[in-house]
Order: sequence, then structure tokens, then C-alpha cells
Amino acid sequence: MKTTISVIKADVGSLAGHVLAHEALKKKCDDILSEAKDTGILEDYYITNCGDDIDLIMTHHRGEEDEEVHETAWNAFKEATNLAREMKLYGAGQDLLSDTFSGNIKGMGPGCAEMEFKERPSDPVIIFCCDKTEPGAFNLPLFRIFADPFNTAGLVIDPSLHNGYKFEIFDVIEHKKVIMSCPEEMYDLLALLGAIGRYVIKKIYRKDDDEIAASVSTERLNIMAGKYIGKDDPVAIVRSQSGFPAAGEVLEPFSLPHLVGGWMRGSHNGPLMPVPQKDATPVRFDGPPRVIGLGFQVANCKLIGPIDLFDDPSFDRSRVLASEIAEYMRRHGPFEPHRLPSDEMEYTTLPEILKKLKGRFEDIE
Ligand code: F6R
Ligand code: MG
Ligand code: MG
Repeated sequence: MKTTISVIKADVGSLAGHVLAHEALKKKCDDILSEAKDTGILEDYYITNCGDDIDLIMTHHRGEEDEEVHETAWNAFKEATNLAREMKLYGAGQDLLSDTFSGNIKGMGPGCAEMEFKERPSDPVIIFCCDKTEPGAFNLPLFRIFADPFNTAGLVIDPSLHNGYKFEIFDVIEHKKVIMSCPEEMYDLLALLGAIGRYVIKKIYRKDDDEIAASVSTERLNIMAGKYIGKDDPVAIVRSQSGFPAAGEVLEPFSLPHLVGGWMRGSHNGPLMPVPQKDATPVRFDGPPRVIGLGFQVANCKLIGPIDLFDDPSFDRSRVLASEIAEYMRRHGPFEPHRLPSDEMEYTTLPEILKKLKGRFEDIE
């Protein structure tokens, strides 16, 4: 029997402002998920949060896009929203775009990453959850994990990784997808992946046998809603060891706090800071953007763990570097490239200002 991991996340209210999902909301989600475990919809689950986003990590035997699993997550977020409204938490229900569930949570606001696989004798899985950024934030680290031999020694020295991986890329603007193969198409792949606001990695497969290796939530909430609601703080599931990159190879690229879109008002570039779960509290200028990494062993559809992987002194230097980069970027104030280019900004006053100035623009001789 195959095991499915579904990670579904949403921001349904936080304190103070957009910093932290309240414990009471996670407790509410726990009530709903524990009921789903009792009735056999779920085999197991773990609930966490990264900043203002609640992340439901669920295992079951129902495959991807299962209506009952998605409805369980929806109900959990609905109940948490009701409580958030009572508590007058900030942005209560902000990621739920509809009042009623309609079969699949995709397109309804929450982000969703899923994968189904036959368990190996031992199956280590790492779940990454971000806040104050967007799905393209995973492009650089996932490329490095599965395609960069300077990051992943196994690509060079382990025969079970040596043939490389296939990347499924979504064009989130045109709603199209393409599969590209590494290392043969590496330069073409990078031409797409560098455009992090448009081309995002959805899934990665091992080339030898098409085995699933990674899955990312790619929903772009603002495109769905037609206006800014919040950034689409993404989640990712990555399998590791024995034919996949080792856990240490999976974590390694996060030692560089690379620049991602998001941060204040979803409109600024900033460093992605790897933090222990307790430090997923984006407070400086509503940031800088955060990523947490939780390691589990998946055993007979149960989740053993987690270990909070960035809760380690070996990532201290990355956090100091992230703070230094944050300081440097902040000094630019409203100027690019700290501020995102106009077409990527989630808030803008520019059209109004240009309208006001219309009569005052003159031709340059
Ligand atoms: C970014 C984010 C925050 C808010 C900012 C303004 O994803 O959530 O930076 O954009 O705090 O929030 P509002 O518009 O709700 O006052
Ligand atoms: Mg929020
Ligand atoms: Mg968030």
C-alpha cells in the first residue's frame, strides 16, 4: 500500500499583525485533524506554524488531491478562522477565498504540496515551511539539492543519484507546465528557474525510475484572488537518503540566505533566514522571510519525529549573515532592488500617481 503526504497551509489570522499564528488556532486544527484520524481519513498528522501560517502535515492512504483529506484541512482552517474572528486576531480568514468547500482545496486559497510513494525500508522526509515569501523561493535551493554537484556530493560519487533528476516546472502566469531533465538541460532549466516570480519548481523525480523526490506548493494566491491578500508563503516536501540527496545535502543550500521576493507588504526582496521553529517570528520590517525545516521518518504511514533541523549552531552564521543582508537591503528604503519591480509588487500607488501627473508630463526635445 502506498503512503501519501499532504502538506496544506493557510494564514487564517495572527498576532500582532502578521507575525504569529496563535496557539489556540493550532489547537482548533488539532481537534479537527484528530477527529479525521479517528474516522480513518488520516493515518497521522503534525501541526506547526511558520510565522502567521499554519502548516498541516498529514499522512494517509488516499492518494493526492483526495476530497476528504482536502475537506479535512479546509474544515480545520474554517474552524480556526471562526476562533480567530472571535479573538479579533489580525487578518482572520485571510487566505480562505470562499465560504464553501468545493471538492479540492487548490484554487481556494490555501497552499498545498503532496506526494504519494511506496515506503522504502526507511524513509526520511524533510518538510520546509516558509513565511513572508513566495513559491519561487524554493527554486534556488531545490536546484542546488538535485542538480548542483558543488552542493550534492552524491550526484558525483553515488551511483544511485548519478543519472540525475527531472524537474516539473510550472509557469504560474500562463498556467502551463514543462518537464526538463538534468544535467543535460541544465542551462535551459536555469534560464527558467532564475525568473522566480514566474517559473516555479512543482515536482522533482529521480530519472532512473521516475520515483518522486520533491513536491512544492505553487499556488499564487494573489493571482487567484485578483488582488493582494498575502504572499503565497510556500511549503515543500523533500525525500532524502538512499537514492536521494542525504539530509545534510538537502539542508546545505539553506546556509546561504538567498534573496527572495516577499517581506514587507509582499513587495520587497530580502534574505531567506533558516530558523528553528520557535524563531519563525518575522518581526523586523515584517521579516526577513523565514524558512523552517522539520525532519521525519515515515513509518507505515506514521510520522516519527520531527527534529527541528535548523535548530543547530551550524546555521548560526547563516542567521547572522541574513541579518547583515537585511540591514544592507533596508538601507535602500523605497528603491529597487530592495523594493520589487513594479509588476511584482503586491501594493502599488504608481497608477494613481501617474494619473495625477498626466497633464504635467511633457515630451523631451
Ligand atoms: C507580507 C505581510 C505583511 C503585510 C503588512 C501590511 O506578506 O503579510 O508585511 O503586508 O503588515 O498588512 P496590512 O495590509 O494587513 O495592514
Ligand atoms: Mg497574515
Ligand atoms: Mg504568512
